[in-house]
Amino acid sequence: MTASSAGLADIGSANDDPEPAIVLDRHLTVSDRSTALATDVRTGLTSTPKELPPKWFYDATGSMLFDAITRLPEYYPTRTERAVLAEYAHEIAAMSRADTLVELGSGTSTKTRLLLDALRDDGHLRGFVPFDVDETMLSRAATAIRDDYPRVTVRAVVGDFERHLDLLPTADRRLIAFLGGTIGNLGPRPRHEFLTGLRTQLNDGDTLLIGTDLVKDPVRLVAAYNDSAGVTAAFNRNVLSVINHELDADFNPRGFAHVAHWDADNSWIEMRLRSVHEQRVRIGALDLSVSFAKDEQMRTEISTKFTRDGLADEFAAAGLTMVRWWTDPAGDFALSLSVPA
Ligand code: AVJ
Repeated sequence: MTASSAGLADIGSANDDPEPAIVLDRHLTVSDRSTALATDVRTGLTSTPKELPPKWFYDATGSMLFDAITRLPEYYPTRTERAVLAEYAHEIAAMSRADTLVELGSGTSTKTRLLLDALRDDGHLRGFVPFDVDETMLSRAATAIRDDYPRVTVRAVVGDFERHLDLLPTADRRLIAFLGGTIGNLGPRPRHEFLTGLRTQLNDGDTLLIGTDLVKDPVRLVAAYNDSAGVTAAFNRNVLSVINHELDADFNPRGFAHVAHWDADNSWIEMRLRSVHEQRVRIGALDLSVSFAKDEQMRTEISTKFTRDGLADEFAAAGLTMVRWWTDPAGDFALSLSVPA
């Protein structure tokens, strides 16, 4: 399942470019990806209630829609995290003294530059390892960073952070960053497994920087996931188009309404798609037909909101010690630095 074909990605440009091509490790091939999608869709659509995992939002359209979300007035997490990073990147660099930045779920790697600049100024930076499921976005981001940081060795890893952490390259001192609040997509149990799995990969000297969205007024939380321009609704429905394209299905995305619900007991925002009428959907590649009752709701994402104490306990339960906590002045979003206990 994990075809690990390390190779030189031919994404260098001019022949007068003195820098070597970027090394790209592929732990997730295109065919692994479609097998995983097929499994998730079959399992999710035959469960009660129906459910789809959020990782399938991010095809080219989904990534573009997410990018648009990050600029919405209601969606505070991205700009708040960027402000916290801008303010404290040098403190983070001084505490970690890392020679290698590993970024999980790196996406477009834009906030990464704040960390790279600070690590470079700190004087130890040698390598950057972006790690993401989406090879296209990863290659593009890796190339852009290589062009702007010619002295940094970029080694991109295509992988799933829930499955391939054991394949991360080692270094003397790594700063492992998991930004954006993406850890909130995992429920309590998978989150504990992720953190303990990550903990076993850490050596003395490695540090872990995690971005987490924080509990706040539910009105603001719901607005962040139900914006007035309808971008989040389009993002949510896009998962149906992904399934249509990749698994030969016939979802009518307009037959589903976007729902954003604050679940106070679980401390998470839940996104759902509500079937606006009774309908039957055929997923050709799975030879599967599923029915939706009128108003039936299917969960497509959870986005957990944290507190400092809750997070410190979770780290401790995974063998990690939270050594530092930074937030914006309003306390909307946090960065935490943890080390092996
Ligand atoms: C990329 C997972 C951090 O949970 O806020 C944004 C995804 N979903 N709007 C989040 C998302 C709806 C986002 N993460």
